[in-house]
Amino acid sequence: MKLFIDTANLSEIEQAASLGVIDGVTTNPSLLAKEGASLKQTIEKICQLVDGPISAEVNSEKAEEMLAEADELASLHKNVVIKLPLTQEGLKACQKLSAKNIKTNVTLVFSPNQALLAAKSGATYVSPFVGRLDDQGHEGMLLIEEIRRIFDLYGFNTQILSASIRHPNHVRMSALSGAHVATIPFKVLNQMYQHPLTTHGLEIFRKDFLSQQK
Ligand code: G3P
Repeated sequence: MKLFIDTANLSEIEQAASLGVIDGVTTNPSLLAKEGASLKQTIEKICQLVDGPISAEVNSEKAEEMLAEADELASLHKNVVIKLPLTQEGLKACQKLSAKNIKTNVTLVFSPNQALLAAKSGATYVSPFVGRLDDQGHEGMLLIEEIRRIFDLYGFNTQILSASIRHPNHVRMSALSGAHVATIPFKVLNQMYQHPLTTHGLEIFRKDFLSQQK
């Protein structure tokens, strides 16, 4: 299973990359706005920090305009993945980019049928938003399971990228539900390696080690 970091904050990306467990990065317009950062400059910098798929999202509504944006973004670095919304126009653009072997990430996916359409359009990744579904009283993880079942039944190569992850249990459940990738906020990544029993156990080991040095 691959782990991506879901942020446009360069310091967070650098720290996460130093752990050696990060395979790629996802960004979106909201994450960029939070940093007050420009899309192209930020993507270029991220590509220097992480050698893996880096998702950069288009902002146009029409397929032709998305494709023009995609050309510019894809020319920044070989690792750039074009993130497109799950709309009619996004699917048209996805199909055209797939035909040109440009990697795509179809985002804002909330149903198995949307994921099926993205896979039919040749998407490299499909991003179901588990946290936002949970927020609405639905079960985000069921969506991951159903998409995985459909993709396995028909042999689609599209990878399921579990997104909108809010806490470590979303990562655990994404792994158990068959997501190929989870994209994780920096805070959640840090929560994943912490455990009170690890901290407590280490304190005891240190104390016992020091008592032997006397
Ligand atoms: O990258 C998209 C996604 O992870 C958004 O998460 O927390 O805004 O629902 P959130």
